[in-house]
Formats: sequence, structure tokens, C-alpha cells
Amino acid sequence: MTIKEAIDPAAMQGLIINPYGDLPCAAYCLLEIVDATKARQWLKAIAPEVTRGDIAKPQVGVNLAITYAGVQVLSPSLKAGTFSDAFESGMVSPYRTRILGDTGMSEPAQWSWGSPDETREASAQRLHVLLMLFAANAAGVSDLQSKLLDTMSGSGGLKLLAEPITTAALPNNQEHFGFRDSISQPIIEGTYQQARFAAEQLASAVVKAGEFLLGFNNQYDQPSLSPSVPNDSFATKHLAPSKSVPGMRDLGRYGTYMVVRQLEQNVPGFWNGVKKAAAPDSSEDDIDALAAKLVGRRLDGTPLAAPGTVNNFGYAKEDPLGHGCPVGAHIRRANPRDALGDNPKLSLTTVQGHRLVRRGRSYGTVKTKAERYVQDDVARGLMFICLNADIERQFEFIQSTWLNNPNFNRLQNENDPLTGNADSAPGGYMTIPGCPVRKRLSGIDTFITVKGGAYFFLPSIAALSYLSELN
Ligand code: HEM
Repeated sequence: MTIKEAIDPAAMQGLIINPYGDLPCAAYCLLEIVDATKARQWLKAIAPEVTRGDIAKPQVGVNLAITYAGVQVLSPSLKAGTFSDAFESGMVSPYRTRILGDTGMSEPAQWSWGSPDETREASAQRLHVLLMLFAANAAGVSDLQSKLLDTMSGSGGLKLLAEPITTAALPNNQEHFGFRDSISQPIIEGTYQQARFAAEQLASAVVKAGEFLLGFNNQYDQPSLSPSVPNDSFATKHLAPSKSVPGMRDLGRYGTYMVVRQLEQNVPGFWNGVKKAAAPDSSEDDIDALAAKLVGRRLDGTPLAAPGTVNNFGYAKEDPLGHGCPVGAHIRRANPRDALGDNPKLSLTTVQGHRLVRRGRSYGTVKTKAERYVQDDVARGLMFICLNADIERQFEFIQSTWLNNPNFNRLQNENDPLTGNADSAPGGYMTIPGCPVRKRLSGIDTFITVKGGAYFFLPSIAALSYLSELN
């Protein structure tokens, strides 16, 4: 029998456990470390401002993550191989670009930040730290920004690489296409989320802490592979013993890996594409209904597979053939629940090893329903952010084996109709099962362009203080 470990929310950064729903405005500051000694001093100075997971209703949120390039500059004594391979090699290594499907317009060479092109201002080589600020309104974010960035320029250790990316929640928790978002999230076992949200969710939504927290047991009942450091007196002062590498100290415990991708959304492209795919003379309601088939939920978030619930559903019993929610719809690909293959129980077990805590936020002004077909030159999209202990098994797997896989769950030559890159499944097909006959849409375009991205380490509170002293 496994003994459940108590989880101390005060040991982790708040973002892991708290979406900061009361703090709808945010700024993401991309920073370069220009002087490691001074940057460590800055880290130490702002450590008390970092929002921890035990504060249920923070007035403001301050969280901080670091890239591998950042780790190398900040703490050069940490050996290569300390962290996971995906994190160390980064989002823009040629191998990862290929498996993530970042081709054409989404090619990293063109990204405005995180690009491997060293001549760019916020290139992957120079992007070291992401400072995330959250507040109730834009003025609050801007106050926080000047307070913390002033501390920074005072110390001279870090430099802002670009204008911070600011986001503000859209009405009704929707994303830019107009769908309610952030409904389905895994519940981290052993945390207060379990008592608070479990009743609204499928029992299988409760996932072992080690899927999202390094150093804890994961779905395989193994401690998640966590960066570990030698057991010297300095490490002993800050860090707990490692469970995954005996004899070492655990730098990862209570931390996680964070994936950030700036996904620009072509809203008129999406709605004109759906309109074109709909039958001629379709009403706006018909067009909404067809768009819902691409997502798997209606605009208001109602799941097509089980309209009577918000999130407490599977597909195997409720909608085995996909007559409600097509097999290729975004949410059914991103989390097939009990319908991957023919064995629901096995499917649930498999799927639980591929979950993400999503913490994305929208940037750019919102379009009303009346404006959705009209092209403008406003940049808008999703700062897609997800947290996971194993980037390869979780984020990358979902992106490449489910969303961008032309043969997902017995489909043929079609990928995620919402987020897919048409390069990986030319023709833009999507099958909508139905009775007496299915419908096959074609010509669905690419609606999302990747504009930037990186893999980060979101350290625990203890690891932050360790890194602020380690050279
Ligand atoms: C701009 C791009 C994207 C948009 C507009 C978008 C939109 C949505 C919407 C509307 C939902 C339904 C609400 C919910 O169930 O919470 C959803 C669910 C989800 N999305 Fe996305 N998404 C995007 C990109 C991605 C990416 C890149 C991934 C993963 C690699 C992803 C993973 C998920 C997951 C895991 C769910 C929950 C599915 C479930 O548990 O039923 N999404 N998304």
C-alpha cells in the first residue's frame, strides 16, 4: 500500500495550485541575466514577494520561472544533466521543433521571443527568467511591475528583453474564439483542491501529485524524476533528500516544469472557416453549433458528449461513437478520458499519465460576436501555459501524439481542428460522426500561429533560496 504524502502548499509557488481567478490581469516579463551575482541578490530580495501556494486569496501574485539558459548563467556550478533532457535541450532544439509541429508560420526562427535566432532581442539564448505578475486590474499589474523591476534595475543584474506581455481575462472566462475555457483541470491529490472540487469532477480527475510536483510519487507510484544536487552542507541547509536519486538533495521537490507558448489566434479566420464549412444558408446558431463540434463544448462550455454536466463525464458510455463530441474535437483529443481504444478502464489509467494543469491567459482585445468575421490588425491570442513534471510524457505527448496526430484514435489524415497546424495533415479534414451518415469537413485552415515559447523550471520556495545563493 502506498502512503499518501501530505502536501505543504506553503512550500510551492502559488501558480501550481491557484489559477489566481480573482486576479484577472497579468504581465509576463521576459528577463535576461546580465550579471549573475547581482541577479542572485535580486532573487534574494524579491523572494519574500513570491506568492506561495498556501495563500488562498492573494491580493497580488508574483511568480518566477527560469530557463535552462538562465540556470547556466545564474548557477554555473550545476552540472549538465541535472534537469530533464527536454528542459535542458529547450523548446526550440530541431528535434523538439519537429515533434511539436512548429513549421511554416510557426517556425521558431520567426518567433518574437524564445527564437533560436541569436540576432533577435529576446532569443532563446538570452531569455533567462520569466517574472509573472498578477493583479486585480491593469493599474495593479503596472504598480507591481514598477516596484519589482525597479528593484531589478537598482541591482543591475537583470534586463527586460521586451515589453512585458500583458493579458486580461475576457468576459465569461472565454478565450478569443469565444468558448468558455479552463473548465477541465486535473485535481492534485493530497491538496485542498481535492476537498474543494472533487464533487464537480470525474473521480479520475484526481491525479497523483507527482504528475505536477517534482519529487512526489506519480501515476506509476514512482517519485517523479527530479533535478538533484550533491548532498553538501549548503544543499542540506536548503533542500530535502532526493527520493529519485538516493544520496542526493532534491532541487526539484515542490517545483515543476512550465511550458509557455504564445499562440496567436486568427479569430476571423476561424469563424469564416467554420461559416464556409457550414451548409449554405446556415443561421448563426448553426454556425455556433458547427464550431462547437471542433471544440467539443458549446460556446458556454456545455460538453457535447454529456450536456447535463459541466465536467463529470466520460465518452465510453455517454458518447461512444462521437455523435455528440466528435473523436477528433479539441477536448476529446487533449483528454480522451475513457475512450482511447476499446477498454474504458485501461484508457483512464493511460490518460492519467498525460494530464496538464493549464494556466493560460488571453492577450489582445476581445471581439464581440458581431465582429467575429471581420479582419482587423489586432494581435490577439492565448499565452498558453501548462505545468507538468515530465514535459515529454505530458505536454509533448499531448501535442504530438494526440493533437497533431493525423491518425489519432483511428482517424485518418486530420489533426486538431482548433490548434492543429495544417502542414501536418494537409486537406484540413475533420470527421463529424452522425446518423444516418457522417460529415467530413475539408479545407479547415490553420488558425493558430506560435509567436514565442520556452520551457521553464518553476522552482519551489526552498529551491529559489538555494539558487539565490549558489554560484
Ligand atoms: C489557442 C489555442 C487553444 C485554444 C483556443 C484552446 C481552447 C480550449 C477550450 C475552449 C477548451 C475547453 C474548456 C475546458 O475544457 O477547459 C480547452 C480544453 C483543453 N485544452 Fe485547449 N486550447 C488551446 C490550446 C491547447 C493546447 C496547445 C493544449 C495542449 C498541448 C491544450 C490542451 C487542452 C486540454 C488538456 C483541455 C482539457 C480537456 C479536458 O480535460 O476535457 N489546449 N481548450
